[in-house]
Amino acid sequence: MRHAVVMAGGSGTRLWPLSRAARPKQLLDVVSSGDGGAHSLLAEAFARLEAVLPAEQIWVCTAARYGEQVQAALPRLRPDRLVLEPVARDTANAVGLAAALVAEADPDAELAVVSADHVIRPVERFAATLGTAYDALTARPRALVTLGIRPTAPATGFGYVRRGAPTEVPGVAEAAAFKEKPDRTTAEGYLASGEYLWNSGMFVWRARTVLDALAEHLPASAAGLGRVVAAPAGPERDAVLAEVFPTLPKTSVDYAVLEPAATEPGRVLVADLDVDWLDVGSWPALAQTLATEGGNAVAGLAVSLDSAGNIVFSDDPEHVVALVGVRDSVVVATADVTMVCPVADAERVKALLAAVEERF
Ligand code: GDD
Ligand code: MG
Repeated sequence: MRHAVVMAGGSGTRLWPLSRAARPKQLLDVVSSGDGGAHSLLAEAFARLEAVLPAEQIWVCTAARYGEQVQAALPRLRPDRLVLEPVARDTANAVGLAAALVAEADPDAELAVVSADHVIRPVERFAATLGTAYDALTARPRALVTLGIRPTAPATGFGYVRRGAPTEVPGVAEAAAFKEKPDRTTAEGYLASGEYLWNSGMFVWRARTVLDALAEHLPASAAGLGRVVAAPAGPERDAVLAEVFPTLPKTSVDYAVLEPAATEPGRVLVADLDVDWLDVGSWPALAQTLATEGGNAVAGLAVSLDSAGNIVFSDDPEHVVALVGVRDSVVVATADVTMVCPVADAERVKALLAAVEERF
């Protein structure tokens, strides 16, 4: 049967101070619903999957500390489909844990893995491509399928997949190479070549296949997860999980599985995902979802004179942000933190947060 899991355990540090460890970006109501209201990226990710699957086949994997917020944001999520990690050990282990539990429920499960931090339009086209990717598993049961997006810039925060020979499934090619987060020069070369797609961070594979790939490429993780699911579900398994999970090697599924697997011909496939796609990972990305006022992307109360190219965000309805003569800056005001940086330095917010955490 077809299943899907939303990866929703990231902490969204590059959207600080809006995104906080206690309430990360995927749980914030930042996406306009079109009726004056707003909803979360996670709710949108879940709804997107409901276009393809019934709710009982949709799982969400997140850190235990977000469990209650996730369940509250997703009333249709079945409680036994919520997978909780005791600590965050990045997506290799999150995907592994989810795949092990899905395989326990359904040994032949075909499992889509999607991110919680994307805006995708139109949903119908996403649904059709996801269907194609599942179909590809009929022809190639052992494949690791990634959904690829045509790149528009030499971004260094994404993975890149080189499109190889076409497969028997229209719209799906073999991946000739996979490179996670290349440096700028490499990314520029990939873009110029026209041969690469961005890895959307969404995958389709059999649950068993990704567990086998983990066993091959990240054996310490596979062994630990094996111990977890060998324990009977309930308090005993929770105890093993709490003991074992923090010891697993912290790495993403892209580095741990996709990069090495793509060196094996025909193992990784890439399905063309032709949609408007946005990874809401940073202030400039979030700005693309905001209203524009006088040349600035604005959310909340803002007044500006002779100012343009700014991203202005106030999440406090009583807090006015006023700018004069300011250009190309990010200005974010929350109840307890004000953050200002040039738009060009938006990737450094993560480092800024680390410095703040050291001081306070
Ligand atoms: N459950 C869980 N546990 N989820 C996690 C964890 C974790 O430890 N860490 C991250 N996530 C979730 C995030 O909430 C997000 O939905 C998704 O996994 C991807 O994590 P990111 O941290 O946002 O990854 P990225 O954006 O740097 O890179 C990935 O996505 C890019 C496209 O958006 C990679 O797959 C890249 O190759 C890809 O291009
Ligand atoms: Mg991301």
